[in-house]
Amino acid sequence: MKVLIIGSGGREHALGWKIAQSNKLSKLFFAPGNAGTEAIGKNLPIDPMDFEEIKTFAIEVELDMIIVGPEQPLVAGIFDFFKNDPYLKNVKVIAPSKISAQLEGSKQFAKQFMARHNIPTAAYQSFNKVSFNGACKFIDELKPPYVIKVDGLAAGKGVLILNDAENAKEEIKSILFEEKFGAAGKRIIIEEFLDGIELSVFVLTDGKDYILLPEAKDYKRIGEGDTGLNTGGMGSISPVPFASNKFMTKVEEKIIKPTVKGIYKEGMKYFGFIFFGLMNVNGEPLVIEYNVRLGDPEAQSVIPRIKNDLLKALILTSEGKTSEANIRYDSRCVATVVMASNGYPESYSVDKQITGLDSDISENTMIFHAGTKLNKKEQIVSSGGRVLAVSSYGKHLIDAIALSYKAAKKIKFDGVVYRKDIGKDLLSKY
Ligand code: AMP
Ligand code: GLY
Repeated sequence: MKVLIIGSGGREHALGWKIAQSNKLSKLFFAPGNAGTEAIGKNLPIDPMDFEEIKTFAIEVELDMIIVGPEQPLVAGIFDFFKNDPYLKNVKVIAPSKISAQLEGSKQFAKQFMARHNIPTAAYQSFNKVSFNGACKFIDELKPPYVIKVDGLAAGKGVLILNDAENAKEEIKSILFEEKFGAAGKRIIIEEFLDGIELSVFVLTDGKDYILLPEAKDYKRIGEGDTGLNTGGMGSISPVPFASNKFMTKVEEKIIKPTVKGIYKEGMKYFGFIFFGLMNVNGEPLVIEYNVRLGDPEAQSVIPRIKNDLLKALILTSEGKTSEANIRYDSRCVATVVMASNGYPESYSVDKQITGLDSDISENTMIFHAGTKLNKKEQIVSSGGRVLAVSSYGKHLIDAIALSYKAAKKIKFDGVVYRKDIGKDLLSKY
């Protein structure tokens, strides 16, 4: 099989690392990839949003499968683009259809979908410019903290949690009238604050059946003890200690099954991953958000825990036979530490040479690249805010964490920063 993975982050490197182990693979491509993916496949200088270029390449190499990592091309309709094209329609596309991708692309769409299928989530109301006064009135009716979300895609930045009502109204005004988040903020939703502990649950689905993948917890804030600005994610662990069998049964019965059934009943085509962002509120799961893809850096902890041939499971999924893909989990824990450039998630410098990648690193550690590239001298240099994700196996979470930090210490580049507390809040629960 000739497979193309769209994206350039640690998630895509982890997907490629796993797929490269399959005996069904003949050739692996990335668009655009990074220095890590170049070592396991071929990087193509193609923008994930340039569907015409992707098409030209797919026809030229007679591509068999495309796997789409990030949300932007999914929401822009890459699935429909392939399926509606007579030259591409036989390529297997691991992605949701354009309408299904609205589960991530529009918070209001997701909320209405959940309401139609009785899926537990925070109570909410939605507003636009015209109903600004209603938004202020709704704030006055709620107790703080106030949760304000822009409707569209905002690269993880579109959620504000504020304690002061006047401040909340000011922010709403600047989103709706000054377009602080551009078109993504033409509509907002204001929702009930959920007080609990978060986790991420993943399934692979063909839009009819699904298989549950290992769950994960990510660490979104830049600072230790969950402080400072929100990022794409600074680390992750899997499994999650509080995801007991009892809790996960509730997740399947109250959230996953009604979601997949809803997708099926509404005739939405879906051949890919669903990422349920959940809050555990006193033992009850509620949906915070849907994502129509794997998470980054959740994937770097989840994928290494899948024991089977993932490419085989993806082939079955694309043929509507997900139920035949029997997923087995590795019982070991995985902890992932993201190494970033100082300044991230705001401005940071790039082109810093990375050393220590081939030092004596345990065979139980995987180094997934995110923002890296090869410079003219073929040296690996930084090219993004999140630079590397160091993932390790351990019998217990504590061992996995220790091994990832041991490897991280050996890797050096100017301005490297990483959180030292990934997974440590959960240790007492093991
Ligand atoms: P989202 O982009 O929807 O995942 O939201 C970003 C983050 O905001 C989540 O990971 C939560 O930590 C927080 N959040 C979102 N919605 C709520 C809510 N209703 N109650 C409490 N926290 C929330
Ligand atoms: N780590 C969160 C995400 O991928 O959306």
